[in-house]
Amino acid sequence: MAAICCLAMAAPAREPVYARHGMVVAQEPLAADVGVQVLRAGGNAVDAAVAVGFALAVTYPYAGNIGGGGFMTVRMADGRVAFIDFREKAPGRAGHDMYLDTTVGNSSTRGWRAVGVPGTVRGLELAYQRYGNPNKSWASLVQPAIQLADQGFTLSASNALFFVKAGGKLLHDPEARSSFSTNGVFYGAGALLVQRDLGRTLTRIASEPDDFYQGETARLLADAMAANQGLITREDLRAYQAVERKPLEGDYHGYHIITAPPPSSGGVCVLQMLGMLDGTDYAKAGPGSVRSYHYLAEVMRRAFADRMEYLGDPDFMMPRMSALLDPAYLKARAAGISPTQATPTAEVRPGQLRSTEGADTTHFSIVDQAGNAVAVTYTLNLGFGSGVAVPGAGFLLNDEMDDFATRPGFPDSFGIVQGEKNAIAPNKRPLSSMCPTIVLKDHRPFLVLGAPGGGMILTAVLQVILNVTDYGMDVQSAVDFPRIHHLWNPNPTNDYLQVERTMPAPTIAALRKLGYRINDQEPIVAARVEAILVGPNGRMEGAHDWTRGDGKAVGY
Ligand code: DON
Repeated sequence: MAAICCLAMAAPAREPVYARHGMVVAQEPLAADVGVQVLRAGGNAVDAAVAVGFALAVTYPYAGNIGGGGFMTVRMADGRVAFIDFREKAPGRAGHDMYLDTTVGNSSTRGWRAVGVPGTVRGLELAYQRYGNPNKSWASLVQPAIQLADQGFTLSASNALFFVKAGGKLLHDPEARSSFSTNGVFYGAGALLVQRDLGRTLTRIASEPDDFYQGETARLLADAMAANQGLITREDLRAYQAVERKPLEGDYHGYHIITAPPPSSGGVCVLQMLGMLDGTDYAKAGPGSVRSYHYLAEVMRRAFADRMEYLGDPDFMMPRMSALLDPAYLKARAAGISPTQATPTAEVRPGQLRSTEGADTTHFSIVDQAGNAVAVTYTLNLGFGSGVAVPGAGFLLNDEMDDFATRPGFPDSFGIVQGEKNAIAPNKRPLSSMCPTIVLKDHRPFLVLGAPGGGMILTAVLQVILNVTDYGMDVQSAVDFPRIHHLWNPNPTNDYLQVERTMPAPTIAALRKLGYRINDQEPIVAARVEAILVGPNGRMEGAHDWTRGDGKAVGY
């Protein structure tokens, strides 16, 4: 009797979704279903990712997009690894001080001047060309999105709630207002959302992706920019290119991690934090223990300090990657962590690098039957981006310019203190925190994951990796487990350890005793991680972050 009782206690609160042939985990169920349809019809994980990316642009206006940008991490079953960088770029006419005039208000987050040159269409095209199944046509991958836009789809309650909570800005823009509201009243739960302009734009992209950068869509976008004092020109669009970069790779406790290089800080910070934790007794501290959270907070602050000091677009500066990830450097940095006391943030500085070498988002994870794995995080930045949509083209534009150091030395919209290396320059990519990540075990995909959530992306991805690798949790429990977040802000009034609502009160009290300032009256939702774990027998376990938001894990 006792044994049965204990077994019941040990069962996870929610089981992962199991599958044998393919799995898609995304933050909007209709788009996840599109991905599985593509897998079932013989598409590989990259094909499915392209189709999910376009579908989300229709079914998840909050963050899905063709007017934004992002990153895709790929690990093909034959061992090839790739990182597709389709991050937005500053327009050619952007400048270092363009947002310093505070009389113009929040122009880095709202309206036409907030927009970076979108990269999503080029990024999905490049991924398809290099890694897609040649037997699948490009048009067939865009088609499900066209259908969803033309025929409409039923808005879920959670999707409708995004409009109510964050959509106010859309009502100031004629195209966005007519796309998502009837005379200024947003479509509600259960309404059929038809997006005809978007359907036409996607139809043009299906027959020729260049349309977005050189055709009718480019013309509509550039004309709207010119009419609204925006900066993006036809030349900016024509010149935009997605690039394939070498992903960052590192090892931790027998696992091999493939993750995002600059212009994201995400992978660098995750690998730095893992390296620092290796120098502590984190693995022995146990899940949920005060000491485990303390070590996490300490390494987070140190990683964010280095982010501010050392990271930016690799096309404009040479990030000192081997110095930043040098095990001896990380060990020395971890040596300053006391097991029993929080370091005041003002005393945490960016590290001294030894070597002198030359130099509101969404995530989906996909694994196919052959063992190809894809992790994609893409974004408009804040929910619904800049709030403006291209007239006649029906899609929202990003406010990714706000990810630059619009005021170097000051925190951005996510509280991240940004440095001069991430200052604005024409054609530069803003530094990101997104880190689509694939963890290998015994040379096979083991964990595929990522998240939206600004700076919380990289700290959440870290915690889920650790929950599985060091603490042996099943993937759903690892995703569900209470998370923390700590930025680096030497200004004591803004210096907090942030915790989720689920953090037990005694743990909070004990962390306070260690010296942390915790505002538990304003708990965070620490990013939304969407993960797939592949067991040794090939069984796939999909974990959608159901306690923190809507979405779906679906496989077959
Ligand atoms: O690239 C970045 O780090 C940010 N633009 C991500 C924004 C984000 O995650 C907003 N979603 N909650």
